[in-house]
Amino acid sequence: MSQSYDRGTVESFGRWREFSAGMWAWILHKFTGWILVGYLFTHIAVLSTSTQGAETYTATLQGLEALLIVRFLEIGLLAVAVFHILNGIRLLFVDLGLGLTAQDKSFYASLLLTAAITVASIPTFLGGAL
Ligand code: HEM
Repeated sequence: MSQSYDRGTVESFGRWREFSAGMWAWILHKFTGWILVGYLFTHIAVLSTSTQGAETYTATLQGLEALLIVRFLEIGLLAVAVFHILNGIRLLFVDLGLGLTAQDKSFYASLLLTAAITVASIPTFLGGAL
């Protein structure tokens, strides 16, 4: 038997105010997953400079690391990757039927752990840049 459910219209952008923790987890997981896919292209572009020799590769990396914006982007990338990994592992547990009654709590724990790891990484990423 099918149940009807009012999903609202696509144009109802204001619905984000009613989103539950699970909806935010879903949005953040998709968002971070696709950012990681996008980053792969940048990563390959940078790595491929090594085909022009070790000196070109070193100069590319040094040039990038000299830019403060790159240091901040790296911190953002770490946050995105850590959240995706932690939330992804959480989702795999959910798929196995583990922790089903603590899904909100485990999502908040993923967020907190991501924040803690990201903040702890700041001295490393900004080291020598300021
Ligand atoms: C240890 C590392 C990772 C874990 C544990 C993980 C886990 C997951 C899981 C469980 C899902 C499915 C979520 C759902 O049920 O809807 C997912 C989705 C996704 N992951 Fe990952 N992932 C990891 C690394 C990555 C990496 C490195 C990338 C990109 C290069 C990536 C890109 C994506 C994308 C784009 C989706 C969403 C696909 C969609 O739109 O349905 N993930 N990930």
